[in-house]
Amino acid sequence: MRFYTIVMQEQLIDKAIKVLDNNFQEEGFTLPSKGLYPFQWKWDSGFIALGFAHYNMDRAKKEINTLLNAQWENGFIPHIIFHSDSDTYFPGPDFHQSSLHPKASKKYRSTGMTQPPVFGFILQKLYDIAEDKKDILQFIEQQIDKVYDNHMYFYENRDIHNEGLVYIYHNWESGTDNSPMWDDIWATMDPPEYTFERRDTSHVDASQRPSKREYDHYLYIIDVAKKYLYDDAKIAEHSPFLVQDPLFNSILIKSNEALIALYTLLGTNNDKIQYLKAQQKKSIKSLNEKLFNKELGAFVHYDLRNEEQIPYISSSSFSPLFSGAPDAKIAKQLVETMMNKFGGNDRYLCASFDPTHEKFNPKKYWRGPVWINLNWILYHGLKSYGFIKEANRIKEDSLKLIEKYGFFEYFDSRKIHPDSEKSGYGGDNFSWSAALIIDFLKEKA
Ligand code: GLC
Repeated sequence: MRFYTIVMQEQLIDKAIKVLDNNFQEEGFTLPSKGLYPFQWKWDSGFIALGFAHYNMDRAKKEINTLLNAQWENGFIPHIIFHSDSDTYFPGPDFHQSSLHPKASKKYRSTGMTQPPVFGFILQKLYDIAEDKKDILQFIEQQIDKVYDNHMYFYENRDIHNEGLVYIYHNWESGTDNSPMWDDIWATMDPPEYTFERRDTSHVDASQRPSKREYDHYLYIIDVAKKYLYDDAKIAEHSPFLVQDPLFNSILIKSNEALIALYTLLGTNNDKIQYLKAQQKKSIKSLNEKLFNKELGAFVHYDLRNEEQIPYISSSSFSPLFSGAPDAKIAKQLVETMMNKFGGNDRYLCASFDPTHEKFNPKKYWRGPVWINLNWILYHGLKSYGFIKEANRIKEDSLKLIEKYGFFEYFDSRKIHPDSEKSGYGGDNFSWSAALIIDFLKEKA
């Protein structure tokens, strides 16, 4: 790395370790950020485990074990596990009422929606990092079928056209909560005005969070799902929000590949390997054929409810590089789009939404700021296709942002703006920002 001496790297790693250790809870999971996010989140847990793996493998295992323990009988894994009764968060377990679903976990209260399936590739990363391969393989053997069942759940319940692409029924399932992607869907809805007390805006400035009206839409979709007792087929029929997300599907493909590799290593479950290979072929084909938009030179979201592509570019648009699905020509086009629209020297890579678009908002959550987890995904995608210069730029930009502003949840992508000295936004001491910086810095040459 150009800018980082060994001493600077070690100092940054020490600070990151403190953030993770402070957010770790005795019950065996880690808070994404104290106050703002007081429970366990699905994809956060995966990234957090990766950070722990570099210095405390037991904790990494514990994090994953706790999360996978909350799996439902049908293979579903919820996006939030409510380990406690915190009153600093809304909507909590009483609103979500996941127990309406007959196969919901009897042990844990949770939401009835999910998040991107990161655990396949996370288990593989743990294997790569672990010094004691025998021990980690034993752990993987204990956990891998749960991850497989989760993938099977997606293909059996969320792929309504049997095309290898799974849907999300709520914007919170994407992980990119208030992206402008969903604006046109909100325009088709007219939810009631809910009365509730926001908690997020008592932790973070309201200008950096979604609006009250946006929250009405979020809550209404949950109410629709609850009305049908979180039944997938009914949700697919009635939810006003039904989207095939390139990020979610790319992560599924990446994790399929990892599961195939791990089962092969374990030398067991040939039937599962064959099932995954068959799904994988369909998924890759459909991702390329259905979600790539030639005019934009980028992957896009597909609105299944209104049967049309959503023609906006976000950081998720480049995430198929991480899946390995695009061919070399498409990959080159993606990188050109990224560098032309997001890659100017006056900004950090990679904004979460197209900075040349009128909907871009550099401070508001997923409407423009840089997020470290997306940067980590894009870094590995770019590197695997040989775009080393661009990959290194993403990694260096991530390190610079953290070094300069601290372990924030998201960052302004503009290098210079009216209050550039305060470019870290959202939650502070944010776990995955810390975990992924550790992984960036510990990466073997
Ligand atoms: C926010 C993010 C989501 C994340 C959660 C917990 O809701 O949008 O992706 O999982 O916070 O950190």
